[in-house]
Amino acid sequence: MSYYARSLANSGIQLANAYPLAASLLLGLGAITIAKFCYRTLSVFLQIFVLPGQSLKRYGAKKGAWAIVTGASDGIGKEFAFQLAKAGFNVFLVARNLELLDTAAAEIASKYSVSTQTASIDFAKADDAAYEILSQKFQGLDVGVLVNNVGKSHAMPVYLVDTPKEEMADIVSINVNATMRVTYSVLPGMIQRKRGLILNIGSFAGAIPSPMLATYSGTKAFLATFTSALAEEVRQHGITVEHINTYFVVSKLSKIRKSSALIPRPGPYVRSVLSKIGLPCGAAYSRRPNTSTPYWSHALIDYAMTVLDMPTLLIKYTHGLHKDIRRRALKKMEREAKAL
Ligand SMILES: NC(=O)c1ccc[n+]([C@@H]2O[C@H](COP(=O)([O-])OP(=O)(O)OC[C@H]3O[C@@H](n4cnc5c(N)ncnc54)[C@H](OP(=O)(O)O)[C@@H]3O)[C@@H](O)[C@H]2O)c1
Ligand SMILES: *[C@@H]1O[C@H](CO)[C@@H](O)[C@H](O)[C@H]1NC(C)=O
Ligand SMILES: *[C@@H]1O[C@H](CO)[C@@H](O)[C@H](O)[C@H]1NC(C)=O
Repeated sequence: MSYYARSLANSGIQLANAYPLAASLLLGLGAITIAKFCYRTLSVFLQIFVLPGQSLKRYGAKKGAWAIVTGASDGIGKEFAFQLAKAGFNVFLVARNLELLDTAAAEIASKYSVSTQTASIDFAKADDAAYEILSQKFQGLDVGVLVNNVGKSHAMPVYLVDTPKEEMADIVSINVNATMRVTYSVLPGMIQRKRGLILNIGSFAGAIPSPMLATYSGTKAFLATFTSALAEEVRQHGITVEHINTYFVVSKLSKIRKSSALIPRPGPYVRSVLSKIGLPCGAAYSRRPNTSTPYWSHALIDYAMTVLDMPTLLIKYTHGLHKDIRRRALKKMEREAKAL
C-alpha cells in the first residue's frame, strides 16, 4: 500500500472509531446497495438466459386463432409471420406490397399448413376510410395476437430543421397512427374473447432521446408510454400488451447487412421475442412497465444503461454517432452520384 492509501485508511479507521453509529449506518447502507445490485443483476440474467416466457397457447396457438402482423412483407415483420405460423397461428400479413405479401403467405401456408390472409395498405397515407376497410377484413376472425411492427425511420440522421416535411409526417403516421388505429380495430374482439397479445415493436431510439432522429425517437418513445397505459386498461380482460425494445437488427430499415453479436438477423431476434413474453429481461428496473428487451445482447446493453443512469451522457454520445453516420452517408451518396 502506498503512503497515501495507508494514511487514508488510517483516517477512515479513526473516523469510524470516533463516530461508531454513523460508521455502522454507512456500512449498512453500502451493504444494502450492493445486495440490491446483486439481486437485480441476478434476476435480469435469469430472465435473459434461463426463464421461459409465457406459452403462446394462452393466446390461441393451435386453436384456430389468428396473428396479425403489420409490415409483414420484409425484415422483422415477415419473420414474425413465419414464426407465429410455426407456433400454430393462422397469419394475416399487412404492408404495401401485395405481391411480396402473397408470396410470403403462400410459402407460409405450404410450410406450416395454417390459413393465411393478406391486405395492402399504405399507412403513410391511410385515412379513416382506409382503416375502415382494413378493420372490416379483421371482422369475424379470432385474433389472438397483433404485432404492431410496421415502422419508418429517417432516410439518414438529419436535424429537425432540415427534415423534409413529408418524411416527418410519414414517420408519425406509420409509427404512431398505425399502431393506435390497428390496435383500436382488434381490441373489441380481444376483449370479447378475454384473451389477446399485442406486441408493439419499439427501438432504443425511444429509450435514449436521439438527436438527428428526433421525430423517429419521439414516435418510438410514444410506444413505451402508450403500451404501459393500455396494458393496465386491458389487463382486466386477460389481454397482454408489451412494448419490445430493439437495438439494431439486420434489415432494410437499419441498412445493416452483416450480423454480429450485437446485431442479430430477424430470425434469432424474433425467436427471442416470442420465447420471452411477459419477462422484461433487459428492461427490468428501467421504470418502463410492460417494456421488454428480450434479445440477449440488447438486454445487457439496456440493463447497463439503467445501471449507468446517465441519460445526458448517452444523448450526447448518440448525437456524435449520428453526426458521423450522416457524414458517411452523404459521402457514399456523393460517390454513387459520381459513379453514374
Ligand atoms: N432493424 C432495426 O435495426 C430496428 C431497430 C429498432 C427498431 N426497429 C423496428 O422494427 C420494426 C420493423 O423494422 P424492419 O427493420 O424489419 O424494417 P423493414 O425491413 O424496412 O420492413 C418494414 C416493413 O414495413 C412495411 N412498410 C413500410 N412502410 C409502410 C407503409 N407506409 N405502409 C405499410 N407498410 C409499410 C414494409 O413493406 P412494404 O414496403 O411492402 O410496405 C416492410 O414490410 C420497425 O418498427 C422498426 O422501427 C428496427
Ligand atoms: C394521424 O392521426 C391524427 C389524429 O387522429 C390525424 O389528425 C392525422 O390526420 C392522422 N394522419 C394520418 C396520415 O392518418
Ligand atoms: C404491466 O406491468 C406491470 C408492472 O410490471 C405488471 O404488473 C402487469 O402485469 C403488466 N401488464 C401486462 C398486461 O403485461
